[in-house]
Amino acid sequence: MLDIRSKSISDLSRIGPSVIRVLERSRVAYGCCTADSFENACRDAGVDVEEIAALVEQAEIASRGAIDRDDGFDAMSLAALCDHIVRKHHAYTREADRDVATLIGSVCSVHGVEHPELSTIQRVFGSLALILENHLLKEERVLFPYIALMESSLNFGKPVPAAPFGSIAEPIRVMLSDHEAVNGSISEIRRLSGDLTVPEGACDGYRALYAAIDDLEKDLRQHIHLEDDLLFPKAMEMEMSGVPLDPNRVDENRSGLPIIQPRHH
Ligand SMILES: [Fe+2]
Ligand SMILES: [Fe+2]
Repeated sequence: MLDIRSKSISDLSRIGPSVIRVLERSRVAYGCCTADSFENACRDAGVDVEEIAALVEQAEIASRGAIDRDDGFDAMSLAALCDHIVRKHHAYTREADRDVATLIGSVCSVHGVEHPELSTIQRVFGSLALILENHLLKEERVLFPYIALMESSLNFGKPVPAAPFGSIAEPIRVMLSDHEAVNGSISEIRRLSGDLTVPEGACDGYRALYAAIDDLEKDLRQHIHLEDDLLFPKAMEMEMSGVPLDPNRVDENRSGLPIIQPRHH
């Protein structure tokens, strides 16, 4: 079991995004260069050390279980993983967004009066679609190209290339917060729609709308899992270590999450 209290904030934040999310939500200052101990950082933030330690532990266990190391993604280069995410999940998300927007427009016009929640769902979905579109562009134009460049530079024995955003942890932090917003909007739509329950006697369009939202949610879950639990921790590890990842490496203490060695100066 991970002895959280003995770790520095820097060690903990390197476990991966799931732990970073806990620290961020609890307003505990973290950062790969913070040498502060976990206990001190919690005290500075005015939060309960035991409570946050329990949350960090849960997050660490959850992300360990979330990575399926047999599905082939773990052996991919990071550039190939980015490419897979864009081709499969980004393409699907854009298509599904268009389909849901069309369906919701027509279902609203037919059933909007007897089901006033539909117009709220339409509004929430509209802002979700906007977040997603901007998010996909940020990944495709900024983060993923940088990850691919960093990987190829290291493969050619060059140093980690300079980035306009400083450390890669910065854009990753923004992506994680977008993912949270996406999950929040989906939960809100589920709540408003009674867990996507189609009302009795509803038309096929209604059924198709909720099925499309359900499919989009499933795809987003897989998509976000690949980024949060595989791509982002590996990219952070690569940046910190300054060496390319060896997909065949078996680390004795690597129980599902990368353990990052500090870069030697
Ligand atoms: Fe993505
Ligand atoms: Fe993403």
